[in-house]
Amino acid sequence: MTISIKTADEIKHMRQAGKLAAEVLEMIEPYVKPGMSTGELDQICHNYIINTQHAIPAPLNYRGFPRSICTSVNQVVCHGIPSEKKILKGGDIINIDVTVIKDGYHGDTSKMFCVGECKPHALNLMRVTQECLYRAIHIVQPGLTLNKIGHIIQQHAEANHYSIVRDYCGHGIGKEFHEPPQVLHYYDPRANTTLQTGMTFTIEPMLNAGGYKVKLNKGDGWTVTTRDGRLSAQWEHTLVVTDAGCEVLTQRSEESFFNNP
Ligand code: MF3
Ligand code: CO
Ligand code: CO
Repeated sequence: MTISIKTADEIKHMRQAGKLAAEVLEMIEPYVKPGMSTGELDQICHNYIINTQHAIPAPLNYRGFPRSICTSVNQVVCHGIPSEKKILKGGDIINIDVTVIKDGYHGDTSKMFCVGECKPHALNLMRVTQECLYRAIHIVQPGLTLNKIGHIIQQHAEANHYSIVRDYCGHGIGKEFHEPPQVLHYYDPRANTTLQTGMTFTIEPMLNAGGYKVKLNKGDGWTVTTRDGRLSAQWEHTLVVTDAGCEVLTQRSEESFFNNP
């Protein structure tokens, strides 16, 4: 279980894959409206990735996953399967998680969208979850112990009376979709891996409005929901550790991270 250090050339490829994944989230935004189905969102992303980006949607057929993106609505924590039967309605919150493969390298990113107008409690959960991701990104630098990432996320979530999902985590990424290390979003003293320049991984905190416990849908084998049925939110970026801190490979136009070129 060794963590790969990417070469400058590999990082160029990762930057390209990350940019494409970010552009899919930007492209899909105007379609996230009441009356749209998550199946249609998947079709639009799938066609864009294949025909416009000349890239590959990594989820499709990954361990049997049947579609090209994940769409996780309201109490769905992650890995929601897009469906023509799942019609979005005003007030829903949805995470769209996009992973593309370009020239053999992966870029993985997700964000939350409001469908129409959302209630303040939903907006607050989404905002705090994004703040958890941003706080973690801002401390990444060579020499940092991985458990500091979990610590800062857990602190901010719990200060806002939310819980952190424990059963799913961030991950190393590169030629493989999921590589070592695991990136926990809560504090575990055993997560004592030290970050080095050239490591590439995701941070993707999932916060629940209620308890941290989740359940896996045994029927479809994928959909993860909160046990108590309350809302969940998630944001994800792929980043590379640099001498100066980190570069966010999946930055969108609406964002600007300190160390990005
Ligand atoms: N994109 C997810 C992640 O952040 C993984 C989705 S696996 C899939 O790691 F098969 F559901 F697509
Ligand atoms: Co990921
Ligand atoms: Co993802």
